[in-house]
Amino acid sequence: MSNTKLNDIKESALKDFQKAANSTELYNFKVQYLGKSGALTEAMKLMASLPKEEKPLFGKLVNEVKAELETVYAEAESNLKNKEIESQMLSEKIDLTLSASTTERGHEHPIYKVTHEIFSIMARLGYALRTGPMIEKDYYNFEALNIPKNHPARDMQDTFFVDETHVLRTHTSPIQIHSLENEKPPLRIIGTGPVFRCDSDISHLPNFHQIEGMCVDEKVSMADLKGTISFFVREFFGPGLKTRFRPSFFPFTEPSAEVDCSCPICKGSGCSLCKQSGWIEIGGCGLINPKVFEFAKVEYPKWQGFAFGFGVERMAIIKYGVDDIRHFPKNDVRFLKQF
Ligand code: DAH
Repeated sequence: MSNTKLNDIKESALKDFQKAANSTELYNFKVQYLGKSGALTEAMKLMASLPKEEKPLFGKLVNEVKAELETVYAEAESNLKNKEIESQMLSEKIDLTLSASTTERGHEHPIYKVTHEIFSIMARLGYALRTGPMIEKDYYNFEALNIPKNHPARDMQDTFFVDETHVLRTHTSPIQIHSLENEKPPLRIIGTGPVFRCDSDISHLPNFHQIEGMCVDEKVSMADLKGTISFFVREFFGPGLKTRFRPSFFPFTEPSAEVDCSCPICKGSGCSLCKQSGWIEIGGCGLINPKVFEFAKVEYPKWQGFAFGFGVERMAIIKYGVDDIRHFPKNDVRFLKQF
């Protein structure tokens, strides 16, 4: 093989390296010339057939061509790669005006914030926390609270039945029975949690929260009940709010009362939230009916007591002046952020 032939290979390779449009094409050209069966490699194999004295010179020339092509290749490759990265970056379209994604810190839901505030007020009066199941036995939700089967009092609480003997608890009052059965008086307990009723409008939710209080001791009167609730309501809402007790009926208390607070939206003049009455009912209370003690096997009148049950959402709308109770379960961050 002549040196001219070697030169032709070199020239053609240099031209090809130059015209390669991208790094893949360039690599294919490299294989074509410098690869295992490439033109230059094939040329080297021919060295065996050359006269002995020509071999060293030819070998030297092949190595020089090879080195030169490799240098040119490396340079071309680096140029093409840089161009490719550049055009990829341009086509990616990164919007630098977008704000960086950050994780916002959450906080307690207003309903739990209110609940914890209520606990801490009641804890100062010596009340201890108790809980009960959300799927409750009919016995604890109704019977033991002196609401017999087929009694019209059951209609006060539209109920979701799970099966014949279990309901989604309609109130937190069953917590009273669990405590009376499992603990020895004197008792001061406070319970809370979700309750469920087939009910929904501007001031009612099918799933809301209640707070239940019970005090059992040797001599308990309506005066103790009024004193405790008045203290609690004043501590929770502040001194500006008016409260009133209205005679009422609950099968598990005798006598019974309902507790109302003045409406925070209209300040008493009447609006849609308070149904034009100027008052919002927060819950019921009364002296524990001796029948309830009988069911729970607690000796009466040695032990007497009072109890109360309030709606947590109701207390929250009054405290914060929220105009629709349905904001609470929606979980709209714009609403929740305000607490
Ligand atoms: N459980 C009643 C209700 O949900 C509220 C209530 C009334 C609770 C009187 C009490 C009570 O503990 O003494 O309507």
